[in-house]
Amino acid sequence: MRDPYIFSQMHRIPGYLDPGDALILRAVLTHQNASGYAGGAAEIGIYYGRSWFLIRQMLRDGEKALAMDLFDMDAAGQSQMGAFLDHGQTLGIPVLPEQVLQADSATLSAGDILARTGPVRLFSVDGGHRLAHVKNDADLAHDCLSGEGVIVFDDFFNPEWPEVSAAVIDFLRSSRGALRPFAVSQKKLYVARARHCAEYSAAMDRAPGLRRMGRVPVSFFGHDALRIRHPLWRRAAYEGLSRLGLGRVSALLY
Ligand SMILES: C[S@@+](CC[C@H](N)C(=O)[O-])C[C@H]1O[C@@H](n2cnc3c(N)ncnc32)[C@H](O)[C@@H]1O
Repeated sequence: MRDPYIFSQMHRIPGYLDPGDALILRAVLTHQNASGYAGGAAEIGIYYGRSWFLIRQMLRDGEKALAMDLFDMDAAGQSQMGAFLDHGQTLGIPVLPEQVLQADSATLSAGDILARTGPVRLFSVDGGHRLAHVKNDADLAHDCLSGEGVIVFDDFFNPEWPEVSAAVIDFLRSSRGALRPFAVSQKKLYVARARHCAEYSAAMDRAPGLRRMGRVPVSFFGHDALRIRHPLWRRAAYEGLSRLGLGRVSALLY
């Protein structure tokens, strides 16, 4: 089956990543792999690992992934960390102790991350959603980013988390054009160094998994980025079919 993690496993991990963004993340990492871009991956805000396991799977031998979270959202009878580790075992992607940093990201330095991953080619910012959190995490991502690296901000434009958008826009403005968005979905903003944006946009435009998702150019600070649409009905169909064990059928929608 095409994309077995996305279409037959991901729905079993509680979390917020939808199949549209999963396919975009996969397309970014596929493009990096095909282009020979090397580096680690890092995520702040793991929850139960729904996006982290996808990213982890796409790294090549020797590349390192780091999972950072408070891991304090324990449900009745089970720790968040325990559930994350259990999902890794079930998926056949065991999480190693050196791949986890249980901490408030405000207490971490770029050195703490770089020591575990080396320069990061994919950094997912999905931890605390207040202004100070996103500012801190965006700066960490910037300071760890490889030359061709991509930062992914969750909940950009989500009206329930207005400070995410404020912090991301402050961050982009302060880069004075060095960093720019190349794609935006309903839930996430994808950012790279300006010299790589056209290349990433083109890669998203031709990615096989994204062909059936609507794509239109939008202007961001005077430059084109690709708006990638994932209609609600498709996500609902994905959830329903996956739960019935028909992930193979939902894959046909993409
Ligand atoms: C929206 S969830 C992450 C969703 C996840 N990426 C997924 O794919 O489902 C946010 C996570 O951020 C973590 N978090 C919140 N504030 C944090 C902080 N200051 N430092 C580290 N992690 C934090 C929470 O514990 C929670 O697990």
